[in-house]
Amino acid sequence: MVRRIHHVGIVVRDLAAAYRFYRDTLGLPLLKEASIRDQGVRAALLAAGDTEIELLEPLDASSSVGRFLARRGEGLHHLCFDTPDIHAALTILKEQHVELIDTAPRPGLAGAIAFLHPKACCGVLVELATPAADAAAKPSPVRLKRLVIGARDVKQTAGVFRSRFGFPELTMNDGPRTMLAVGRGAILIVPSEEVGGTEGMVALSLVALDFEALMAAFDDAGTKCLRGTGEVTLEPESSHGVHLHISRYE
Ligand code: CO
Repeated sequence: MVRRIHHVGIVVRDLAAAYRFYRDTLGLPLLKEASIRDQGVRAALLAAGDTEIELLEPLDASSSVGRFLARRGEGLHHLCFDTPDIHAALTILKEQHVELIDTAPRPGLAGAIAFLHPKACCGVLVELATPAADAAAKPSPVRLKRLVIGARDVKQTAGVFRSRFGFPELTMNDGPRTMLAVGRGAILIVPSEEVGGTEGMVALSLVALDFEALMAAFDDAGTKCLRGTGEVTLEPESSHGVHLHISRYE
């Protein structure tokens, strides 16, 4: 049902300010930007390998994204999977009595889209998208490697994602974490107590093709981060509320 993570949606206060980090410092190419009136947002898609990052600025405080910003501040908002046939996917989900926000596809920035209810995926707001046929990938200096999800019960949350979308489980050392493959990327599910009690999306792991060049860009921009050998963790105040972990290697 799912080919890859199409994008990860991030709510930001101001799109222009978010461009300064995501486009100008991190170097993600801007693919498109548009106002989506029925969602009350100005949205942009930026390339991140074979996945994308979607930035969402609320156009009014009463929209669902506006209320999210008031309640939670900037940060990770939703996860979108690329499905080849959104009508078929919705039919299957309805047969399984999965709770949906959209029972029929509607036009969105990523193509024909539909949202599942967060209850359907253990508190994670999931969007499905069938992109337009002419949507081409663009080379990016940084690519999304995996998304980290905090769960009260890791096995149960992994089971829900596996049964809804058919993701295979990747072998890991025995431990409390579970990794699911999604196309070339992955979802890592960790116990919520490991991530400050957070349930739902908590962090993104990225790989930089030219790590030194990226560190130089962070220096120039005054990006706040903790540097290790071949890896860096950004302070969320520098990355619009998102815990970003960037490494040199796969
Ligand atoms: Co989206």
